Amino acid sequence: MKILVTGGLGYIGSHTAVELINKGFEVVIVDNLSNSEIGALEGIEKITGTKPKFYEFDLLDFDQLDQLFQEEKIDGIIHFAASKAVGESVNKPSLYYRNNLQSLLNILDLMVKHEVSNFVFSSSCTVYGQPDVLPVTEQTPVQAALSPYGNTKQVGEEIIRDIVKAESGLKAIALRYFNPVGAHDSALIGELPLGVPQNLMPFITQTGVGMRAELSVFGDDYNTKDGTCIRDYIHVVDLAQAHIVALNRMMESKQKEDYEFFNVGTGTGSTVLEVIQSFEKMSGVKLNYKLVDRREGDIEKIYADTTFGNQELGWQSEKTLDDMTGSAWKWQQQLQEKALSKA
Ligand code: NAD
Ligand code: WQD
Repeated sequence: MKILVTGGLGYIGSHTAVELINKGFEVVIVDNLSNSEIGALEGIEKITGTKPKFYEFDLLDFDQLDQLFQEEKIDGIIHFAASKAVGESVNKPSLYYRNNLQSLLNILDLMVKHEVSNFVFSSSCTVYGQPDVLPVTEQTPVQAALSPYGNTKQVGEEIIRDIVKAESGLKAIALRYFNPVGAHDSALIGELPLGVPQNLMPFITQTGVGMRAELSVFGDDYNTKDGTCIRDYIHVVDLAQAHIVALNRMMESKQKEDYEFFNVGTGTGSTVLEVIQSFEKMSGVKLNYKLVDRREGDIEKIYADTTFGNQELGWQSEKTLDDMTGSAWKWQQQLQEKALSKA
C-alpha cells in the first residue's frame, strides 16, 4: 500500500512516515520545506533503513500535484501540510486561508480525479475553543474559531465532510489532535521550531539547554489545581500511530460513516507546572522560569475524553508525560550538540 504523506518532513509527518514504514507501507512524501529541513528525510532513513520517495514542491501547485498523482499509484493520503502559527495567522490571514484550504481543495479534487479513496486530515482540538464541559467528547460543540488558523481547521473539516458526501468512493477521517509533544526515541527526528518557540515544550527544552534565558509561565491565577493552564499533551509517536489506525479503518471498510472525526489525546490534563516538574525530573536540569501575566486568548483547561476513539479505533496512547519531556530533551540536546560541532 502506497501512502502519500503531505508535510511529511515536518514534525508530526516525519514521525508518521516512520511508523508507516515500520508497518510495511510504502511512503511518498511531498513537502515544500517551508517549515522543515531536508535532514528529516535522512532521519527517517536512519531509523527505518528505508528512504521514502520525496517530492519537493508546493501543494498550491495543482499541475505538479496532478503529475505526482499520475506518477504514483496512491492508496491513501495523510495530509499534514499546513501553516500552523496561531499568532502569525492573525496577522496574515489570507496566507493561512490560501495555504491551508487551497492545498486541501487541490488534494481532494485530485483524489476524486485519480480515484484515490482514503484521506486522513490533521485537525485540532482548537475547534472546541474553551469548552463548557470537560473532558471534551466528539459531541462537544465546535465553537467560533479564535484565529484564522483555527478557522482553517473548522472550515477544512466542513470542506472534507461536504466533498465526501458528494463523491461516492471518497472516505475520510479527521483527527483532532490535542497538544503533540516529544520526539522519536532515537532523537533522529523531532520538532524544529523556527525562531522563538511559541509553544511550551520547545520553549522549555531551549531554556534548559541555555538558548533562552528563562521561560515565562503565562498565568498562575486560573481555576486549576496550581493556577496554571491545563492541556492534554500527547506523545508524537502515539499520535503518529493513531494515523495508521485511522488509515486501516478506512482500508478495511470499518467506518460507520464515510466521514468521521476523532479526538486524539491521552485523556489526562497536565498543568504547566507539572510539565516543568516532569522536565526537571527527566533532564536533571533546574529550569529557570518565572510566573507572569496570562497570555491573551489562552484557554484555561482542555483535555480529551478518549472513550469514543478507544472503542471505535481500538487505539490508545501509551506514553507518559515523562516519556514526552524526556524524549523532547534528548532531541534538544542532540540539536545543541550538532549546532556546537558546526560552530
Ligand atoms: P510542521 O510545520 O512541522 O509540518 C508541516 C509541514 O508541511 C512542514 O514540513 C512544511 O514545510 C510543510 N508545508 C506547509 N505548507 C506546505 C505547502 N503548501 N506545500 C507543501 N508543503 C507544505 O507542523 P506539524 O506540527 O507537523 O503539524 C502538522 C499538521 O498538524 C498541521 O496541519 C497542523 O496544523 C496540525 N496540528 C498541529 C499541532 C501541533 O501542535 N503541532 C496541533 C494540532 C494540529
Ligand atoms: C501550552 C500551555 C500556555 C508557552 C497552541 C495552539 C493550538 C495548537 C497547539 C494546533 C499554555 C503555556 C506556553 C510559554 C507558557 N495547535 N505556555 N509559556 O496554547 O494549547 O495551543 O498549540 O492546532 O491551536 O493555539 O499550546 O504550547 O502554546 O501552550 O506558559 O512560553 O503552556 O499558556 O497554557 P496551546 P502552547
